[in-house]
Amino acid sequence: MRTLITSTAALALCVTLAQVARADSLTLYCAADEAWCQLMAKDFEAETGITVDMTRKSSGEIYAQVKAEADNPKGDVWWAGTGDPHLQAAQEELTEEYESPLMPELHDWAIKQAEAGNHRTVGVYSGALGFGYNKDLLAKNNLPEPKCWADLVKPEFKGQIQVANPNSSGTAYTMLATLVQLMGEEPAFEYLKALHKNVNQYTKSGSAPIKAAGLGETTVGIVFLHDAVAQVAAGFPVVPVAPCEGTGYEIGSMSIIAGARNEDEAKKFYDWALSAPVQSKAQTVKSFQLPSNKAATQSPLAPDLSTIKLIDYDFQKFGSSEERKRLLKRWDDEVASQPQ
Ligand code: G6P
Repeated sequence: MRTLITSTAALALCVTLAQVARADSLTLYCAADEAWCQLMAKDFEAETGITVDMTRKSSGEIYAQVKAEADNPKGDVWWAGTGDPHLQAAQEELTEEYESPLMPELHDWAIKQAEAGNHRTVGVYSGALGFGYNKDLLAKNNLPEPKCWADLVKPEFKGQIQVANPNSSGTAYTMLATLVQLMGEEPAFEYLKALHKNVNQYTKSGSAPIKAAGLGETTVGIVFLHDAVAQVAAGFPVVPVAPCEGTGYEIGSMSIIAGARNEDEAKKFYDWALSAPVQSKAQTVKSFQLPSNKAATQSPLAPDLSTIKLIDYDFQKFGSSEERKRLLKRWDDEVASQPQ
């Protein structure tokens, strides 16, 4: 009898301890730049006392992980990274419906993103796609200043361009979807095949190519313009370019993972991450996106989207499961498989 009481008490203690442990922690999958991910985790911990277990991965990788873990979810919140895979996850119900009380504070584009994902996601920032080049290397290689998408497929840029792989990187998928919308699908794939000849490396992470350009390892990096500006702010000889033909943009997003073990903490993080003071701190770690909270402040160094020729990016279509899978498969089959 005594043994039974003791083991029942021990079991109750274990359950209580497990609840306590769960109530105080949050597992965060983060697809922004490492420094911003670290800042978010550190500040949230400091302000709430909730322990954050953060992992940084690229957008497509987090989508794949959330899908693979769907039967036994390990993550609670997926914060940042391009919106397309967040929308795909929403459509596949891998993420949970939630309407934050902070929604009225957000820009229309962030709310539209939530509506497109049936409130299983929301916009946290926006930024335009472009490229950047290392001006010292450009001069050294005697290359003309690239101003347009068309310049990047010229033979003189052979081996001079770096971009991420669109399967792992949301940045590179944004490029793929942008070119399809800008040129039409067949010309876009002809363009991507021509670009392939000039690419020296497809990286996993979207911002890696411009960091490599900053260090003089490649002349051109195709990235979001704010990532090119971050290199300028860090003192590297990088020149950001908004392509002359026009370009696409991202709505960086956030979603709560379906079946999250720490749902209350996830909602707390979600509301916190949408608030103006939190979004205003991005610039302190050289993240120069446009914040989704209308009251958040932006660095004067941030690219001014109103001066860039932006396409009317169809997030609903290019974030849909069918379209994303189809375009990525076509890129694998027709572009990545080609000799260079
Ligand atoms: C960088 C950009 C973000 C973007 C992210 C996507 O961190 O600053 O604005 O959302 O890249 O990352 P990925 O590695 O998926 O291209």
